[in-house]
Amino acid sequence: MKNKAIYPGTFDPFTNGHLDVLERALNIFEEVIVVIAENSQKHALFSIDERHVMTTEVTGVYPGVSVEVLHKGLLADYARQVGARAIVRGVRQVKDFEYEFQMSLLNRQLYPDVTTVFLMPNVKYTYVASSIIREVAMLGGDVSKFVHPCVLDMMHQKREEQNQQKL
Ligand code: PNS
Repeated sequence: MKNKAIYPGTFDPFTNGHLDVLERALNIFEEVIVVIAENSQKHALFSIDERHVMTTEVTGVYPGVSVEVLHKGLLADYARQVGARAIVRGVRQVKDFEYEFQMSLLNRQLYPDVTTVFLMPNVKYTYVASSIIREVAMLGGDVSKFVHPCVLDMMHQKREEQNQQKL
């Protein structure tokens, strides 16, 4: 069996911090599936299909990586279905831990053969969160240091769409 992991998240948008975690996961696993899912606690800026497009564009150059969308259902069921041994999650700060702890134990309960692996990104990304990138970009700030150029383009486009709607 291939050493396969899934790397799930809302990725709204996919940031350089996410890419850093993915690169670390690729040092451990032969195959990593980036799984774009909905988080019922969050209202996304980009549709799941837009997130699929941007994430595929950013990660396309990495052998062993594929990008899939989880439209509905449980992540644990998806992990079982694709035969993933691990769920990769990036943790930046202590405050991430409580939520991650809960999710990892729940996923283990639902699918005992899967282990959640926490990876820390480079310290320069500890403050980079999709939520803050979205806010800054939608208010016209420069986020080019934090996202891939194609994500930047999609953010500019989204800002224009929003501005048009306000007219
Ligand atoms: O990037 P996020 O928002 O922290 O990712 C959370 C995500 C999408 C991984 C989580 O909400 C999820 O797994 N959603 C799929 C549905 C599911 O399985 N929910 C139960 C999680 S214990």
